Amino acid sequence: MKIAPSLICADFTRLGEEIKLLEEAGADLLHFDIMDGAFVPNITFGPFMLEALRDTTDLLFDCHLMILEPDRYIEKFAISGANIITVHVEATQHLHRSVQIIRSFDVVPGVALNPTTPLTFMDYVLEFVDLVVLMGVNPGFAGQAYIPSVTRKIRALREIIDKRGLDVKVEVDGGMRPDLAPEVLEAGADIVVGGASIFVPGTDYRENISRLRSRHRAVAAE
Ligand code: DX5
Ligand code: ZN
Repeated sequence: MKIAPSLICADFTRLGEEIKLLEEAGADLLHFDIMDGAFVPNITFGPFMLEALRDTTDLLFDCHLMILEPDRYIEKFAISGANIITVHVEATQHLHRSVQIIRSFDVVPGVALNPTTPLTFMDYVLEFVDLVVLMGVNPGFAGQAYIPSVTRKIRALREIIDKRGLDVKVEVDGGMRPDLAPEVLEAGADIVVGGASIFVPGTDYRENISRLRSRHRAVAAE
């Protein structure tokens, strides 16, 4: 299981140092939550932030676009150093086109689904993407509680991917805590995003990340 800390929870006064700490702590990807104040009720940052941080680390930039009509900004994020760009199925009119635009910049395309958006929206686009992001919370804020029905959705998506013989990764984003991680891992998640559970003031990021990665409870339950 790969862990992608979400920088939305980092200390913005010392982002470079935070990234170094995450690297040392064993983070696999850096998750950038891009919010536009329209698709979601919050605003974060834009491509300039990725650009400023790009030379500070070799970690892959996992760019989660929570913006309406994301096609307008894909090129900017690609040029600014995104390695993965995920668009929301609920935010784009022509999903296949968005995915093709991402690929045209040699960036890995992902599609995100809000917690209650059915998996059927992926039927005709699944073979064109490398990543599906299943939201564990309604997007917009870190630190919210995981919506339990998402675990069933992870399991169903994993079955579809396997049945179709596709190489598509499943990322779970929102509300992840160490006690839930084994459940989503067992259901078929490959990548877990962590915000509030990693950036706990006064704690060791390495410990927080390895706790999220642990299969302990799943093994105990077998
Ligand atoms: C929600 C974001 C998530 C979230 C992660 O809109 O996409 O990445 O902030 O933070 P936690 O783990 O605290 O939910
Ligand atoms: Zn996110």
